[in-house]
Amino acid sequence: MAEPLRIALAGLGTVGAGVIRLLEANAGLIERRAGRPIAIAALSARERHKDRGVDLRPYTWDDDTTALAARADVDVVVELIGGSDGPALTLARNALAHGKSLVTANKAMIAHHGLELAQAAEAAGVALRFEAAVAGGIPVIKGLREGAAANALQRVYGILNGTCNFILSTMEDTRADFADALAEAQAKGFAEADPGFDIDGIDAAHKLAILASIAFGSRIDFAPVETVGIRRVLAADIAQAAQLGHAVRLIGIAEAGADGLFQRVHPYLVPRDHPLAHVDGATNAVVAEGNFSGRLLFQGAGAGDGPTASAVVADLIDIARRTSPEADGTGELGAPFSIPVAALEAMPTAPSGDRVGKAYLRFIVADRPGVLAEIAAAMRDAGVSIESLIQQGGLAHLGGADAGEPVLVAMVTHHGPERCIAEALRLLEGSDSLAEPPLVMHILGE
Ligand SMILES: NC(=O)c1ccc[n+]([C@@H]2O[C@H](COP(=O)([O-])OP(=O)(O)OC[C@H]3O[C@@H](n4cnc5c(N)ncnc54)[C@H](OP(=O)(O)O)[C@@H]3O)[C@@H](O)[C@H]2O)c1
Repeated sequence: MAEPLRIALAGLGTVGAGVIRLLEANAGLIERRAGRPIAIAALSARERHKDRGVDLRPYTWDDDTTALAARADVDVVVELIGGSDGPALTLARNALAHGKSLVTANKAMIAHHGLELAQAAEAAGVALRFEAAVAGGIPVIKGLREGAAANALQRVYGILNGTCNFILSTMEDTRADFADALAEAQAKGFAEADPGFDIDGIDAAHKLAILASIAFGSRIDFAPVETVGIRRVLAADIAQAAQLGHAVRLIGIAEAGADGLFQRVHPYLVPRDHPLAHVDGATNAVVAEGNFSGRLLFQGAGAGDGPTASAVVADLIDIARRTSPEADGTGELGAPFSIPVAALEAMPTAPSGDRVGKAYLRFIVADRPGVLAEIAAAMRDAGVSIESLIQQGGLAHLGGADAGEPVLVAMVTHHGPERCIAEALRLLEGSDSLAEPPLVMHILGE
């Protein structure tokens, strides 16, 4: 029998337990496809006796998670603990330092430390794979690294956080407010008790930074990702967007151009004739535009034990094939970011001000004469041209439509540079006509 690929599993939560279930359920076909079995040599988590819904008795438990990296009976360490630093990073560094390949689902760690880990993997001649870190079960990293490898990609964008997409599509379907839709997401297990990373856009920003690096051959650069989440989106915004023929989606978008790399996570208005407007619930979708392939759309489950385990085990099968004794050292492992770290381009951050497009602007204003004129004057002075203006009555959540209650004013701008919108908002800063800072949602264009 062919030598098994021996793995150590660190972290046995949602994803870790899913990996065990998958390896057990599909052992036969995995062996045929990988050319050899994938065997769990050791596993570890915090609490040995926790019920994880899988029988751990057939496997060797190691109390010391970080020591998995040094075990002589392990070829690949699978890090499924989470967190950008702490035990996950210690384990990852130790694994590579001991000449083990590393598979991880940890987007936070890859977004912050991916280059360092990739450099260590390249130096050690081992593999570093993180398909599960971006869009769960969707093979988008393989799709870009391999399937689209012949293309120059100008832009990659998509719905990268299932929790936010569930909340926004629930708000659209049921007219629920953000807080109620979030509570439903939590009740259904789509949102963490502390949902900040998801709803503030940070999780999507981690994934976007990774995608951008793979797509453009650039050094991964998380810090400049302009990140705005969905907390301030109102049911009224979604209803308004629907009337205008758009859906509201949290979009991560990365573009590489002559002025550098632009990366943004932000709620967008997506035209109904765009495929991303029809991505509902906890689903993820990524669009990549190649100069020969045209538009590619990757869509599927972005989280959950099964889909995420599917991506983790696909990475393991890939490593098993490339490192099999039959390959005799000739299996090409490939650089973790497609291109060796030393050859990745350090791209400057492209400024958002020069970007041209349409936007939806929403104001909650005092219901008194002169307020609309004040907003219109700021737009005019900043050079923002307004395509349509919508004034609604009082907002239910702000106390109804009684006279004197704040009211919602929304507008859609003509095409124009974002710099002008920023200037208009600056002119309105501190105005006592505004009950809260305006909400800007860009409109996804071609
Ligand atoms: N869940 C998803 O759908 C999903 C999708 C894509 C990517 N990911 C990524 O996959 C990773 C794991 O996510 P998850 O949802 O499976 O997390 P989880 O359910 O919270 O599981 C985390 C596991 O790590 C263990 N752990 C935590 N701290 C540890 C420590 N100091 N030492 C040893 N073990 C420790 C926990 O042990 P105990 O169980 O003993 O407490 C638990 O088994 C994260 O990076 C996440 O971002 C998750």
